[in-house]
Amino acid sequence: MAQLWGGRFTKETDQLVYNFNASISFDQKFFRQDIEGSIAHVVMLAKQGILTKEEKDEILKGLTGIRQDVEEGKLQITEEYEDIHSFVEANLIERIGDAGKKLHTGRSRNDQVALDMRLYTRLEVLYVDELVKTLLQTLVTVMEDNVETYMPGFTHLQKAQPVTLAHHMGAYFEMFKRDRSRLKDIYHRMNYCPLGAGALAGTTYPLDRNYTASLLGFEGPTSNSMDSVSDRDYVIEFLAALSTIMMHLSRFCEEIILWNSNEYRFVEIDDAYATGSSIMPQKKNPDIAELVRGKTGRVYGALFSILTTMKGIPLAYNKDMQEDKELTFDAIDTAKGCLALFEGMIRTMKFNADVMEKSAAMGFTNATDAADYLVGRGVPFRDAHSIVGRLVLYCIDKKCGIEDLSMEELKEISPVFEEDIYDAVNIKTCVERRLTVGAPGPEAMRKVIGIYKEYLAKDWQDEDEINIPR
Ligand code: ARG
Repeated sequence: MAQLWGGRFTKETDQLVYNFNASISFDQKFFRQDIEGSIAHVVMLAKQGILTKEEKDEILKGLTGIRQDVEEGKLQITEEYEDIHSFVEANLIERIGDAGKKLHTGRSRNDQVALDMRLYTRLEVLYVDELVKTLLQTLVTVMEDNVETYMPGFTHLQKAQPVTLAHHMGAYFEMFKRDRSRLKDIYHRMNYCPLGAGALAGTTYPLDRNYTASLLGFEGPTSNSMDSVSDRDYVIEFLAALSTIMMHLSRFCEEIILWNSNEYRFVEIDDAYATGSSIMPQKKNPDIAELVRGKTGRVYGALFSILTTMKGIPLAYNKDMQEDKELTFDAIDTAKGCLALFEGMIRTMKFNADVMEKSAAMGFTNATDAADYLVGRGVPFRDAHSIVGRLVLYCIDKKCGIEDLSMEELKEISPVFEEDIYDAVNIKTCVERRLTVGAPGPEAMRKVIGIYKEYLAKDWQDEDEINIPR
């Protein structure tokens, strides 16, 4: 047991207490951020004359040495330390002696962990954003190829009106585009440096918090030291954004599962992204889509867990907050894995345009257009609706579509019908005539795709001059 705080204690910590309290098994995930934060802290301390240049140089050499040794596998992070902060500090002292004992001057583990978690989360926001962007690129490619791939649009999972595959994909493009804008907002809102808040009440040393913040690429220091050590809003916001991404992925997966079923056959998932059955030789199952749908619950769980953990915590730091880490890490890794796999599944999937188009032509998806036809010839919409309702009933009885009826049959129900009704209820005409902003008409869709491509050509990360460290 290596502890930083033994002085006041007369007894060894009970082993079970030690194990229960320790966080090294998971907070080693932000080992790099812990070192990065310490480097900035030390550079600032030296600039302020709190450490000498020699001390600073020694500490920096020690810290970079530890980082290198861990990265090269020469130094193991072991459970013998309580947390990652203790691991780094103890190793530093072991390496450089007394100067190492000065590292923690003007700092507490409370502002240190707040910084580490923020640095880690901030970077992950960017990684998640990149994965969402890659998915958007794939979606826009599918859209470009399928502006005239007709398919049924559904409400209540009943065929409603014909749309195109491009239009359907475009709906998801919009969802994931909003997800990116949420990530951007979160990034900027969280991008303030908590280091220097100390345990809760700042410090008596003349720290230059603006300088530390700028060294670490923050927009500035946080403004209230008590809030700095006890704020986990940014974690909650990020988990909420991840939950929304997962919700979108899950809806999409549900559709892929339906479309891939024997009944629909709208798509065929690539062999590389499907799995078989141990007993039924014919099976090819959409496991990836099902797993993404399933893992959504896990990410929601992290969000609710941390919301619940935070709701009763008095100011300022309390150990409850240690619970933010494992769940957040798991949610981030889960969402990233799902995004990457989902993108691959969509990219390699085969869309059965002919099956979709046949399906679009069945199930009276052109009934609204038949009513609109009558409206165009002076029939009030409500009457037109009723006439076409009777037409549909007649067709159900005859087991045919509106377009299969003869002119005599049509005229018997309404004398307003003329020869041009056949073109008006043709699936392609139905879609082509929908040209308002946001509608599936191919012309309208091509314009939207142009806008999407412009959007993808630019990048908020570049515009905001953010460099992703690799
Ligand atoms: N492992 C702790 C956490 O994750 C670090 C902060 C410890 N601070 C303290 N006062 N015990 O929150």
